[in-house]
Amino acid sequence: MPRISLAFAAALACAAAVSAAGPASLDADGVYRGVNLGGWLVLESWLSPSVFAKHGVAAGAGEWQFCEKVGRDQCGPALQEHWDTWLTEAHIATLAEAGLQYARIPLGYWIVDRNSTEPLPAGGWWYLERAVGWLKSHGMRAVLDLHGAPGSQNGHDNSGRTGDIQWPRPGNVNRTVAVLAEIARRVVAWDASGNASMAGAVAGIEVLNEPWTPAVGGPVTYDLLRDFYVRAYDAVREQGFNGTIWVSDGFAGSGPWVGVLAPPQYTDVLLDSHLYHAFGGPTTNMTAWDTVRFVCDQDGPGVAGRTDADWVVVGEWSNAVTKRNPPGGRLQGGAASWLRAMLVAQLGAWDGSFAGGPGRGAGPGKGSFFWNFRTETGEAGWDLLMLLDQAGAPPQLSTAALSEFEFSC
Ligand SMILES: *[C@@H]1O[C@H](CO)[C@@H](O)[C@H](O)[C@H]1NC(C)=O
Ligand SMILES: *[C@@H]1O[C@H](CO)[C@@H](O)[C@H](O)[C@H]1NC(C)=O
Ligand SMILES: *[C@@H]1O[C@H](CO)[C@@H](O)[C@H](O)[C@H]1NC(C)=O
Ligand SMILES: *[C@@H]1O[C@H](CO)[C@@H](O)[C@H](O)[C@H]1NC(C)=O
Ligand SMILES: *[C@@H]1O[C@H](CO)[C@@H](O)[C@H](O)[C@H]1NC(C)=O
Repeated sequence: MPRISLAFAAALACAAAVSAAGPASLDADGVYRGVNLGGWLVLESWLSPSVFAKHGVAAGAGEWQFCEKVGRDQCGPALQEHWDTWLTEAHIATLAEAGLQYARIPLGYWIVDRNSTEPLPAGGWWYLERAVGWLKSHGMRAVLDLHGAPGSQNGHDNSGRTGDIQWPRPGNVNRTVAVLAEIARRVVAWDASGNASMAGAVAGIEVLNEPWTPAVGGPVTYDLLRDFYVRAYDAVREQGFNGTIWVSDGFAGSGPWVGVLAPPQYTDVLLDSHLYHAFGGPTTNMTAWDTVRFVCDQDGPGVAGRTDADWVVVGEWSNAVTKRNPPGGRLQGGAASWLRAMLVAQLGAWDGSFAGGPGRGAGPGKGSFFWNFRTETGEAGWDLLMLLDQAGAPPQLSTAALSEFEFSC
């Protein structure tokens, strides 16, 4: 593989033009270089199995089912230890030192709207507020992401409730719009409070994570989503939130989103596309190094060629692959080298700085957010803090440091 040279110089040359062409929430660096803080305010048993074991809840349960088992009123108190320890200020300090500028934080609607019939935990907002303050004090900004919507938009544990996808019912969609307005209202109150430790700390709000569309065999129609995205946009802007509004592409790629929330009527909207190599697809049977080659040759041009939105962010990606997932535990030399290459190749694919690409931030690709900041089980492909700790990632993901890294497409 060639060493970094011309591609990076070209990307630097473009950087000045980028901030004007990209979302207003981007800082001078010109692309999002972010990480997800998953498994925290929305439980996922594969990330933190010990919480489930401790409370005798079967793996795979959503937070709804978790709290059904623990008891509605006991659930918030039961989860406080997890909320306090899964994400600490030390984690954020480490991520900030590594050059991450943004953190996407999955939230469930119950953080602002938990009704008396629902077995969901109370008390998450206080922890969210503390974490957003930590991000700001370490020079990072937050993207608040509605991962769990009323009725569940995808039926997976990460939506808060496994089972039927009931989100499309009108009452649930309406409630989701109201939840987003309430989240925006509270964020704007932080901005307006004059409290310097919170103001400006939220760069974006994502209105719905991974709705299960026909593209993945789900019942959430594009018509419903297009209508919902406009209503959600209006509701969030009505509260005075002027950051970036994120919408999910629902795994549908180009097509359904062309012209949706388009300027000039709608401003500062970003399309979120989750691009994994862990769940089948064309890299399924490839060797690890051929997968890196695929990232270089196919993923980068794929994002750069997107026509469904002006701006695309890869809000979730990882180093996990369908087969030959690097083993857990301490990384061996060869695995670490592959993991670094895979990481750097994807960062370049998602932000346009790959060889022959449009240049960093100059195409539709505005950067990316690694999933996840940590796992409890030491799964190297999914655990950025582990990669940083055990040399599976360059110690700095900053632009300058990556330019010195040994790998480039
Ligand atoms: C309360 O939650 C239940 C179950 O999710 C839902 O059916 C009902 O519509 C909710 N009520 C209100 C007022 O949001
Ligand atoms: C949902 O909101 C729309 C628009 O405000 C309204 O027309 C409709 O009656 C509401 N539906 C339900 C079930 O609340
Ligand atoms: C966005 O709103 C904040 C206050 O909520 C304000 O300080 C900032 O100047 C606004 N930015 C823009 C671009 O209007
Ligand atoms: C500012 O916000 C932080 C984080 O929520 C909080 O801890 C602190 O008490 C607030 N300061 C003031 C003066 O309200
Ligand atoms: C991977 O290999 C299996 C078994 O040979 C085959 O059934 C499948 O179609 C292959 N998948 C791809 C994406 O090539």
